[in-house]
Amino acid sequence: MKCPTCSCVRGVQSDVLLKCSEWQRPCSRLLYPGAPNVAPPGGSAAGPLPGSLVVESAMGPPAPPPARPLGADECVSLWEQLFSERGVSEPRLSSEYIVAHVLGAKTIQSLRAGRQEQSLTETQIQSLRASRQEQSLTETQIQSLRAGRQEQSLTETQIQRVWELCSKPLYRMPVQYVIEEWDFRELTLKMRPPVFIPRPETEELVGLVMEELRTRGPAQDSPASLRFLEVGCGSGAVSLSLLHHCPQCHGLHTESIRPGRPDQAPLKRLGVLERLQIVQLDVLLDADSVLCQCGSVDFIVSNPPYVFAEDLPLLEPEILWYEDQRALDGGEGGMDVIKQILCIGTCALKKNGKIFLEVDPRHPLMIQEWLRSQSDHGLEYRETHRDFTGR
Ligand SMILES: C[S@@+](CC[C@H](N)C(=O)[O-])C[C@H]1O[C@@H](n2cnc3c(N)ncnc32)[C@H](O)[C@@H]1O
Repeated sequence: MKCPTCSCVRGVQSDVLLKCSEWQRPCSRLLYPGAPNVAPPGGSAAGPLPGSLVVESAMGPPAPPPARPLGADECVSLWEQLFSERGVSEPRLSSEYIVAHVLGAKTIQSLRAGRQEQSLTETQIQSLRASRQEQSLTETQIQSLRAGRQEQSLTETQIQRVWELCSKPLYRMPVQYVIEEWDFRELTLKMRPPVFIPRPETEELVGLVMEELRTRGPAQDSPASLRFLEVGCGSGAVSLSLLHHCPQCHGLHTESIRPGRPDQAPLKRLGVLERLQIVQLDVLLDADSVLCQCGSVDFIVSNPPYVFAEDLPLLEPEILWYEDQRALDGGEGGMDVIKQILCIGTCALKKNGKIFLEVDPRHPLMIQEWLRSQSDHGLEYRETHRDFTGR
């Protein structure tokens, strides 16, 4: 089996690393089993495949944890340093998220806040001493009251888990897949590769739609409900947020990849199951079926695959190796699915209906040009919003 990146030698699979059998010295590339986007043995095709991931690393696996008590903050710092040395993106945040996750919290800040809440301040300890209970408080007890403000050491099991999980970003696994969940607006969604990890920009897209719904209200011919179509649901983040926030919304969401079926638990928990129809349809191949299924809608929302095909190789390894490229690849000029959504909008939108799209900064002009070049589409370009990064 060829090493898919360096193609230097044949390899044999071991537990975690794939070692090249003909290496004279340790190869600078480690292979991590289970990553979805890998070259097949001896081949070069991309796409979700079982197998191993090639990771550039000259340093090998991390050192075992130090044999002494470790608090959360120290674990975070140790891993932040290692992540920085190994080129892991956002080393501090990644380390904080994982350590907090192992300790059952969302963030390190919430752990600290919890500690502060539970512990007594110095003034409280002093007044306790001065009170009638003074005699009954030993010096050891006073020390432990003070120590309540300090962080607790992690148990051996927790430390092992931190080491196990923190090792994964060294192989460029995104932290969202490491902790297997991620927050999108007020929702916590399950995250498993290669389902697309929802981005903060998309939270803004949902915010824009919600703002529109607040100001506009339901269409005149359907006062009780609003129907929408989402193209490319991924984890379901967009549709679930909209349905959760807007009780009069009913949605159809389409997804080309795999069963197009998001985690049912949040659907049930949020009580939106009966307002969401999920279909596995490729809008490029099955536009007619999409139109049949959705009927007329008040709005269409989509964060489509919009990366220019030529830009794909420039993406970070975390994205390229773990997320499904079909969620990203918008074809030449990144417009393949965007154009199809506009065509679907021509037929499916009700009067005054709208299309909300997340796109590349180059797309607003391209979309306007494309609309000018088409006839009888009945669509009018309204406006472009920049996201929080100014793009
Ligand atoms: C950028 S991801 C967005 C996912 C999700 N809406 C979000 O914002 O997190 C694009 C999604 O579109 C889906 N997709 C790509 N091509 C499609 C097609 N031709 N028809 C339907 N869905 C498609 C991908 O599988 C992926 O889930």
